[in-house]
Amino acid sequence: MENLTQAIAQLKQEKNAVILGHYYQRGEIQDIADFVGDSLALAQWAARTEADVIVMCGVHFMGETAKILCPEKKVLVPDLKAGCSLADSCPADRFEQFVKEHPGYTVISYVNTTAAVKALTDVVVTSTNAKAIVESFPKDEKIIFGPDRNLGSYINAVTGRNMLVWDGACHVHERFSAGKLAELKRLHPGAITLAHPECPKAVLALADVVGSTAALLKQAVAHPEKTYIVATEAGILHEMHKRCPQTTFVPAPPSGGTCGDCNECKDMRLNTLEKLYDCLRTESPEVQVDPDIAERAVRPIRRMLEISARLGL
Ligand code: 13P
Ligand code: SF4
Repeated sequence: MENLTQAIAQLKQEKNAVILGHYYQRGEIQDIADFVGDSLALAQWAARTEADVIVMCGVHFMGETAKILCPEKKVLVPDLKAGCSLADSCPADRFEQFVKEHPGYTVISYVNTTAAVKALTDVVVTSTNAKAIVESFPKDEKIIFGPDRNLGSYINAVTGRNMLVWDGACHVHERFSAGKLAELKRLHPGAITLAHPECPKAVLALADVVGSTAALLKQAVAHPEKTYIVATEAGILHEMHKRCPQTTFVPAPPSGGTCGDCNECKDMRLNTLEKLYDCLRTESPEVQVDPDIAERAVRPIRRMLEISARLGL
């Protein structure tokens, strides 16, 4: 493994490549990445990198977002089959029909969408900036929010809005069980429960802190003396343990499972060190986005980056 790590570092230098990794990636990939972050940070880094090649260690929509922002660069994803159940729950043709049926609505889409859905969107959001971006619109703005029903209904609740929410979900976060979480909280009295807003409403109701992967990590880093129950994909525990080595983190159980390790996104795990090495060596597989779609999709992504910069996010 050490040889592989060295070979990756050497290829990266030779090709002027940058490796970006999401917090849900395998630990060994997070360790080798130049930057590890949440979906917003990955888009921000992609937008400002001077590297010729971007290796996006994440899922397909993350590679697409980087390619849309940097059409002149080579964007690689070690395993292009790494998809996303949430993005899949919103096919572009059906979403287009839904948008057409609601003229006069502003379309806000979560970054976990295909480029074709982003092309139908006015502004993209991530879980870090969704609340702030929704609140940047007038209170009476008519809004369609897609595709995550849990994030959408959470944002409706915390902003007092009444957005029309697409009925999609992430199969990993959907599996967290409120009943099992309540049991775990009884076993760990005094623990702080951290939950990602892609979790169902009943799970979020039991959480002390609801936020993006970056926000949940920030909470743990700010108070490492506490114990945390963590209701999000288990990959985040790698960075949590690294940043807070003394802290106890208890992964929340999914329904039908007993261990936190079951809360793994199979797609995120498709990327391995071996595939990362191969993709740098062969400069493939490369992410491609239809130029017409990219031309329309870049506007809502850039709008998100501009609003986030203005808000200091
Ligand atoms: P964030 O990293 O933005 O919290 O998103 C989580 C996620 O589901 C990525 O697939
Ligand atoms: Fe998609 Fe869920 Fe996997 Fe994130 S964790 S990539 S939202 S399936």
